Amino acid sequence: MTVTDFDFICQILKQRSGLVLGNDKAYLLESRLLPVARKYRLASFEDLVRLIRSKGDEAVIKDVVEAMTTNESFFFRDTKPFDQFKQIVLPTLMAARPNKQIRIWSAACSSGQEAYSLAMILSEMSAQLAGWKIEILGTDLSTEILDRAKEGIYSQFEAQRGLPVTLLVKYFTQTGDRWQINQKIRSMVQYREFNLLNDPRSLGRFDVVFIRNVLIYFDQPTKTRILGSIARRLVPDGVLMLGGAESVFGLSDAFVGQAGLKGVYGHAKGAKPVPPSRPSLPLTAAS
Ligand SMILES: C[S@@+](CC[C@H](N)C(=O)[O-])C[C@H]1O[C@@H](n2cnc3c(N)ncnc32)[C@H](O)[C@@H]1O
Repeated sequence: MTVTDFDFICQILKQRSGLVLGNDKAYLLESRLLPVARKYRLASFEDLVRLIRSKGDEAVIKDVVEAMTTNESFFFRDTKPFDQFKQIVLPTLMAARPNKQIRIWSAACSSGQEAYSLAMILSEMSAQLAGWKIEILGTDLSTEILDRAKEGIYSQFEAQRGLPVTLLVKYFTQTGDRWQINQKIRSMVQYREFNLLNDPRSLGRFDVVFIRNVLIYFDQPTKTRILGSIARRLVPDGVLMLGGAESVFGLSDAFVGQAGLKGVYGHAKGAKPVPPSRPSLPLTAAS
């Protein structure tokens, strides 16, 4: 692979998805893009680059971008954010929403495990949530991964990963060696293709935004830009949930950390949040 070809593809990836690849990732580029080359009946990575340079075909470019994204996800990933959502974020919002409506955005949702984990939490709380309208929107750049999310079919490995067996038995049906999440849970989540580099205004406003394990792939200006867009979509007392390796520190002053809650942020200009029912984990700004 020539440096020019590597740089050419890296430039496309950065422009189209925000993904930044280090110079040591040439092997990754080649191994992930060889199947794309084969799909277009090309013999090599070099031929694929030549095709893109000569024709600039959007479908090929989309395949290249999607092949380079990392789609790893699992149910109740990192556990704690979901406990915090259930025990603190949701009760706080419920106390502050006389209209009984809450909108949740699972941004960069991959194959849907995050959105469905939230849907299962809500389903388990159905008695408390009677009369509430809670929307969950899952978005991702990749059409292919969204098709998987909509189907809600997971391998044995995926179904076991992070999912308590009681929920697996209650909400999934086994077909062969795969498990499909039931229609009721699937119907609680809407999916839509959305690139985080674009303006999210058309998605509406949200009370909670989960954007986890995706900002890590972007450079600092891109992270800042995306966090700024999200801040404008989050209602004043809304909550932002980031992944374990992510933070707003040095990137955005639109958010403030919540004391004792790692990865949970409130709007810096937000209305004072309603104190949660659990005084040990107050949803207040960290000092
Ligand atoms: C590692 S997965 C994270 C999935 C889930 N949020 C989680 O934490 O388990 C990252 C996802 O981000 C998506 N992605 C990458 N760049 C994106 C962009 N610019 N816009 C929207 N989604 C993007 C990928 O397609 C992939 O599905």
